[in-house]
Amino acid sequence: MGTRMYFAEYGEPELVTAGEESVDVPGDGQVQVGIRAIAVNPMDWKIVAGYLQAFFPLQLPAVPGCEAAGTVTAVGNGVTDFKVGDEVIWNGFAGGYRSAANFPAGQLTLKPAGLDFEQAACVAIAGGAAYSALVQLGIGVGDTVLIHGAAGGVGSAAVQIARHLGARVIGTASEQNHAYLRGLGAEPVAYGEGLVERVRSLGTITAVVDTFGGEGTTAATVQLLGGHGTAVTTVPGKEANAAGIAPVKMLAGRVAEAARLAADGKLRFSIQERIPLTDAARALGISRAGHVRGKIVLVP
Ligand SMILES: NC(=O)c1ccc[n+]([C@@H]2O[C@H](COP(=O)([O-])OP(=O)(O)OC[C@H]3O[C@@H](n4cnc5c(N)ncnc54)[C@H](OP(=O)(O)O)[C@@H]3O)[C@@H](O)[C@H]2O)c1
Repeated sequence: MGTRMYFAEYGEPELVTAGEESVDVPGDGQVQVGIRAIAVNPMDWKIVAGYLQAFFPLQLPAVPGCEAAGTVTAVGNGVTDFKVGDEVIWNGFAGGYRSAANFPAGQLTLKPAGLDFEQAACVAIAGGAAYSALVQLGIGVGDTVLIHGAAGGVGSAAVQIARHLGARVIGTASEQNHAYLRGLGAEPVAYGEGLVERVRSLGTITAVVDTFGGEGTTAATVQLLGGHGTAVTTVPGKEANAAGIAPVKMLAGRVAEAARLAADGKLRFSIQERIPLTDAARALGISRAGHVRGKIVLVP
């Protein structure tokens, strides 16, 4: 038997409760994974709230969770890329808040040996989005990148990868995260009123990664780029559309690439808190409050 965290109606994080389930023999093309760590993402509470129903319809009851890492315990017919004992990273849309699961083989990536399960669980979404954003922007030596929301999962990964690519990085965060950002190699600035002036006092921005979105942030991006340079966002919406800011296109191969950067020591997630899987509702509530530093990890 395994544990799953599920919700039977859309709404608050508290609706996500624990249940037992039998873990069947994997079907054709499926791989059974004993899950060791699950990363919490804003997408998880957005799914529970029902905000993504139009894009990804789910049949209820459903299980949130879009990335995890673990060990292969069985493989179904037709699976040739994985075998029992392999350590893997899973990235999907939902279904990851479990102690064990059967996943389609196509959603798995082999975990580099040197990467622990906790870090491996974090690389697909935050690492993959950050990597994709910086490739989309063509970041390299000579760039000065502004990252909105630099202390969060995507932001902290984008800071590290942009530094690795040779760029100068300015990152927005609340005061309490400024020392953390400096430690990652970014120059921190406070968001909110006066942001444009604070950034201008540090230099000229050539590119922007927006992981926060909304009216004020988008307006600051437009003013700072002033028609030069490019911006991408992980939070597309009417403001970004109106300003011509492109949504991040998630690149094929991003999970393996982010995992390789992590295994090589170029990318490391600060784990704000490790929370038992059965306490997932609390983890979702913390994520929804919007001030996570690095990542929250659920432990089955
Ligand atoms: N499109 C995609 O493929 C994709 C992929 C990944 C993520 N996303 C989306 O991208 C967003 C960020 O994800 P995440 O995982 O990085 O979130 P996260 O880990 O929860 O980080 C949120 C961060 O936002 C910062 N923040 C709060 N208020 C802010 C403000 N007014 N201005 C700037 N920053 C502020 C917080 O920093 P302080 O604590 O310092 O305030 C916190 O570190 C989410 O909406 C997520 O759904 C999209």
